[in-house]
Amino acid sequence: MTGFRPELRREPATDLSDLADDAGLAKRIRAEIHAAGPMPFARFMELALYDPEGGYYRSPEARPGRGGDFITAPELHPIFGELIGKAVADAWVALGQPEPFIVVEHGAGEGALAVPMLTTLPAVIAYHAVDVDERRTAALQRRLADAGLRERLLDPLPAPFDGVIVANEVLDALPVHRVRQRGGALREVAVAVGTDGQLVEVEIDPTSPMLAERLNVEHIELVNGQTAEIALGVDDWIRDVASPLRRGLLILIDYGASAAELYDPARRRDGTLQAYVRHQVSDDPYRFVGRQDLTAHVDVTAIQRAAEAAGLTTLGLTTQAEALMALGIEERLGEIRSDPGTTIEAYVLLRASLLRLLDPAAMGRFRVMVFGRAWPAGRTPRLLDYRLARPRSTTD
Ligand SMILES: C[S@@+](CC[C@H](N)C(=O)[O-])C[C@H]1O[C@@H](n2cnc3c(N)ncnc32)[C@H](O)[C@@H]1O
Repeated sequence: MTGFRPELRREPATDLSDLADDAGLAKRIRAEIHAAGPMPFARFMELALYDPEGGYYRSPEARPGRGGDFITAPELHPIFGELIGKAVADAWVALGQPEPFIVVEHGAGEGALAVPMLTTLPAVIAYHAVDVDERRTAALQRRLADAGLRERLLDPLPAPFDGVIVANEVLDALPVHRVRQRGGALREVAVAVGTDGQLVEVEIDPTSPMLAERLNVEHIELVNGQTAEIALGVDDWIRDVASPLRRGLLILIDYGASAAELYDPARRRDGTLQAYVRHQVSDDPYRFVGRQDLTAHVDVTAIQRAAEAAGLTTLGLTTQAEALMALGIEERLGEIRSDPGTTIEAYVLLRASLLRLLDPAAMGRFRVMVFGRAWPAGRTPRLLDYRLARPRSTTD
């Protein structure tokens, strides 16, 4: 799910010669195209990622995560989950330590964030995991049990609830429509079957007026030949996820940019869609159907509008590097260094992980978007409370 994982380019190239499409899924996609005509790219991405039989996030063949196709911040080092725990604890205190207080994690995977986070949080704070992949949720439950945290799992989620909702690297997997400007007309990218049976791209009339509307409300004018992705599903996703939240925070972490940056033709004329498989990135979404991850940068402007339409308040937008600094990553490094139990190997691993988490050319530039509901006025959530020490001007 990561359109921006430059750190992965340092990995040695792996052999992909044994990889092929998920045969059943590829057959179903071709059958749907034969029956209904060219398939909007968003439908193709939905099937490629979420088809219950062969979609990337549903199939036993696909392996997101360490050792699989990419690595995320929580998988890189437990310090990430620990620090998100600090953001949760701060929110709990800001709201007057309500009980129950629940952390809801969307795209919880196998618990890489949950375990270190819950280990550092007071026992009264409960946890609810959401993931489309039931096998990953089962692995998460085992991992929490092994860590003695099984009783913190809460299921089903009560509604309404007070707490914090977190989603790290989930929104970039929401299916995107792809549009392309052709002279004065907006066209939509669709998938057809070529004469040799291969999946090929064609352009069709937009299948939804919402595509042009989204660009209009964001004051975006694509230039001739420019391709762009639009995730229409973001509004429903945020509304559904936030609806049971009575008081608390929604924290979204992902790679992305404001609409103006995202659709800047000087920088992103071909959009941001990327495919990931075995730590390799490509711009070909039509190979290894159902076996590779597909992702696009998130439109932070659209997310903010969606959150506000869902009744949330924007508390702030920052980068992962700044959020982790605000949460005390440097102090934590110091504590671990001076702990007599820390081995040199563990310390070196931590330092290396920190560099990747903070690197402004890698995960450090991921966006952290923080929204509140019934959040105390004037109170800055801790993860937004980082200011680079700047020299004061004489007029300050
Ligand atoms: C890139 S992984 C990130 C996992 C974890 N958040 C992390 O940072 O390590 C994306 C996870 O989100 C899940 N996922 C993908 N789309 C989802 C959706 N629409 N709702 C909930 N989970 C989703 C996948 O199954 C996968 O476990």
